[in-house]
Amino acid sequence: MWMIKDLFEGLPQVGPREEQLGPGAWVLRAFSLADEASLLASLEGVVSQAPFRHMVTPGGYRMSVAMTNCGSLGWVSDRTGYRYDAIDPLSGLAWPRMPDAFFNLAKTAAAEAGFNDFDPDACLINRYEPGAKLSLHQDRDERDYGQPIVSVSLGVPAVFLFGGLKRSDRTERVPVRHGDVVVWGGPDRLRYHGVLPLKEDQHPVLGRCRINLTFRKAG
Ligand code: SIN
Ligand code: FE2
Repeated sequence: MWMIKDLFEGLPQVGPREEQLGPGAWVLRAFSLADEASLLASLEGVVSQAPFRHMVTPGGYRMSVAMTNCGSLGWVSDRTGYRYDAIDPLSGLAWPRMPDAFFNLAKTAAAEAGFNDFDPDACLINRYEPGAKLSLHQDRDERDYGQPIVSVSLGVPAVFLFGGLKRSDRTERVPVRHGDVVVWGGPDRLRYHGVLPLKEDQHPVLGRCRINLTFRKAG
């Protein structure tokens, strides 16, 4: 016997396009898809000037996520600590400028979540290959916690962990797919978050990796 739900099998998921994770935290489903082509072309330009590299934590561990940056400030980690720096330590040059497609997407996503004055000057670009993960942490190296964080997911899907203001608070598992954008700010600005180890998968354009763009106002 067939059931009515069988009719929907295989159809693209239709559901709410925006999901609220907190008073100042939202998932904007597929929000960046319309800009996919210009985002990917811009990404290629940035990475050709400032290639991905595995940074080392202050404790001496090589991070499983490969990183680079664009914008006037870039997030760096080494044996001396975490910091924002105007200079790429690999090249000794300024980080590539933030492409307009990146800046405009970050601003419109922030506004969609209710943050109208977002002025990002830093974009951390994370590359996850199968097995790569990001442990639970707060983004707290920025000067002004009045400005939100805008996080764009591209490529292979992942599970984003969104916790509370204490490390020990329970975490929500948020599936993030190609094109989704997560924004958190205001009372949610210092929520702990992380990413579970990436599963082996293939994305038609980006291959077997996930790329995440994290926009901040750092300086
Ligand atoms: C980050 O916290 O910097 C990145 C989060 C993500 O990759 O989704
Ligand atoms: Fe973060």
